[in-house]
Amino acid sequence: MPNLTFKGSTFTLDPYESVLECLLRNQQFIPFACKAGTCQACLVKAVDCEATPESQKWIKQSLRDQGYTLACQWVPSADVEAALPTLTEFSIPTVLHSLEPLNDDTMKVVVDVTDKAAMFHYFPGQYVTLINPQGIARSYSVANNYEQDQYLEFHISTTSHGIFTHWLFEEAAVGDTMHMRGPYGDCYYSNSSAEDFPIILAGVGTGLAPLYGILNDALSRGHKGDIHLFHGGRSAEKLYLARELGAIDAEHKNFYYHPCLKEQNGSVEDVVDQTLDLGSLKRTRVYLCGAPDFVHGLRKLIFLKGASSGNIFCDPFLERSVAPTGGTNHN
Ligand SMILES: Cc1cc2nc3c(=O)[nH]c(=O)nc-3n(C[C@H](O)[C@H](O)[C@H](O)COP(=O)(O)OP(=O)(O)OC[C@H]3O[C@@H](n4cnc5c(N)ncnc54)[C@H](O)[C@@H]3O)c2cc1C
Ligand code: FES
Repeated sequence: MPNLTFKGSTFTLDPYESVLECLLRNQQFIPFACKAGTCQACLVKAVDCEATPESQKWIKQSLRDQGYTLACQWVPSADVEAALPTLTEFSIPTVLHSLEPLNDDTMKVVVDVTDKAAMFHYFPGQYVTLINPQGIARSYSVANNYEQDQYLEFHISTTSHGIFTHWLFEEAAVGDTMHMRGPYGDCYYSNSSAEDFPIILAGVGTGLAPLYGILNDALSRGHKGDIHLFHGGRSAEKLYLARELGAIDAEHKNFYYHPCLKEQNGSVEDVVDQTLDLGSLKRTRVYLCGAPDFVHGLRKLIFLKGASSGNIFCDPFLERSVAPTGGTNHN
């Protein structure tokens, strides 16, 4: 079997084992979250060897050219060596500016960029990797436009037993440094020929974060078509930003806010289904964000009703998969 060298130690890979799984099995520290090629937390450099094209297809060409790849997607068939990038490679330092409750389990997290010249361009709704002072890396969607606001806004909910969110909710303090990599994902508004297509934005929980970014971006760029935003939660209290969204609804003739509560008017899926305009669905842009089961289920429903698959943009908030025992690798 091939060997994997990492930080001066050599481990033997099991058949079909990824570099990430081998390192975790051998109790090595390597950031990871989704194990699915999405979060890019597990970026490693192939040292004096070639990474497989399959493991590199997820990352930017500029990273590929420098031999970087994703450890969770890299299944070597020959001896390889992998190295972690240093914190300052491909990430920029940020400072926690404020933490403000949006409801009992969700926080608005505002982050300043330390070196403004180093800030990368992104579109509101895309996601970034935030890396805390302990090196724990997780994906979060950006809810605002940095170029207008000069800060980044995230909506982050608590997760029971969650490592990053435990740090954020219980230990983090204003002024703490986090590093940030990105941007990733194709959930954002684009309309170079100023068309008036309808837009559906649907999400549950903090799935609202990217949708809020996309909504404000579309409105600030004068989008002419109708925009429907559906937000679901377990109770009215969970529908954070309801007042702000109600005010935007009152101000813009083409924006419709649909708070969805299963007990009252139905789940997001029900309300979307009742509201869909089948006549214009083929040209409607659809953005779906939040829990993976919700995103995949609604994507299927809307596609089967007639939406074009190329017009459906999804950000399932995949979580780190944890072994049933709870796992021992605390990253
Ligand atoms: C593209 C993308 C965008 C995202 N955007 C957002 C966003 O805008 N806002 C947001 O809030 N989240 C977002 N997420 C989710 C986010 O990345 C994290 O997954 C989430 O915050 C949890 O991280 P954590 O470190 O606290 O949990 P982790 O430590 O990673 O835990 C993951 C899961 O394992 C469970 N678990 C962990 N340890 C144990 C144990 N011992 N026993 C039982 N269960 C356990 C946890 O309960 C949790 O469900 C996004 C994810 C993706 C992929
Ligand atoms: S991309 Fe590898 S863990 Fe997320």
